[in-house]
Amino acid sequence: MILDVDTGIDDSLALLYLLASPEAQILGIAATAGNVGTAQVAANTLAMLDLGGAGEIEVAAGADGPLAIPLRTTEDTHGPQGLGYAELPVSARALSGRSAARMWAELARAHPGAIGLCTGPLTNLALALRLEPELPRLLGRLVIMGGAFQHPGNTTPTNEWNIHVDPEAAKEVFDAFSAAPPQRRPLVCALDITETIEMRPAHLARLAEAAGSAPVELPAAGQGAAWRSAASNPVLRYLVDAVRFYFDFHHGYDLGYLAHMHDPFAAAVALDPALVTTRPATVDVELAGTITRATTVADWAGMWGRQPNADIAVGTDPAVFFDRLITRVGAYARRLYPEPPA
Ligand code: BDR
Ligand code: CA
Repeated sequence: MILDVDTGIDDSLALLYLLASPEAQILGIAATAGNVGTAQVAANTLAMLDLGGAGEIEVAAGADGPLAIPLRTTEDTHGPQGLGYAELPVSARALSGRSAARMWAELARAHPGAIGLCTGPLTNLALALRLEPELPRLLGRLVIMGGAFQHPGNTTPTNEWNIHVDPEAAKEVFDAFSAAPPQRRPLVCALDITETIEMRPAHLARLAEAAGSAPVELPAAGQGAAWRSAASNPVLRYLVDAVRFYFDFHHGYDLGYLAHMHDPFAAAVALDPALVTTRPATVDVELAGTITRATTVADWAGMWGRQPNADIAVGTDPAVFFDRLITRVGAYARRLYPEPPA
């Protein structure tokens, strides 16, 4: 797999999910500016590889910002460093010598059939397409977390964050992937589906039990910014501190004490597309609208007379995803950091 992330709380859970999944072989990770700036995304990603006990995995830094507009970041959603209340030690791992765009192009050439997964803005994939226009035919599958179709936006009334940050890049990607063969169209996990993936404190408690971590903690509203997890397992300690910030953020917007787990869901779909039902559509991105710029529009009925360029996820069972996340990441955390015998 080739990953492209803007790590980010939910991106970090996507990374843990993939590290915990034996069928996932991560060839390289592109660090894209989005939730936080590129250097912080890269640092967070390297630190997550340490925490997740990963072997050597290439992490390549992407462009400093979007193709055509200034970068906007969202520390209010993901915390000052992008990992919520968690702070991880600075990694000693080095960044790749090649750019994220070159890494995408060269890895796809070297590993035709590789699966691409984008959980951040599409800046570096767009730059990679300029270097290697064959990418839509080289990749075995591309899964994108992004967009909002028959669903409100999470950034403007109609914009989803990843598309909002770099709409020009998103348009270049959807246009270019019109060239993908029908059985390899990008699979899009938009807010329509990812906002049904509601993580709650009880899921963290189940993760702690699966990992054999103590105490089993149940974050709650109003605990305050200074509270920190005392979980014995470092993966759980991280998860509680990171996800609690995401709970607080969603709670602050009256969404309940929960967090939408967009990116780990997209990661699970990348490994197993059978988790979702999909509908083909032609997707385009509004670049000119005065109040709708960066809106993703899906033509479900062929009204534009253009072939579909995406399969949009329209159905899933969130409980199946959470069972899988808890089983995999819980067992992985237990294996990585076994409890000393009593
Ligand atoms: C997306 O925006 C980011 O803040 C999250 O990491 C996710 O990829 C959801 O709109
Ligand atoms: Ca993300």
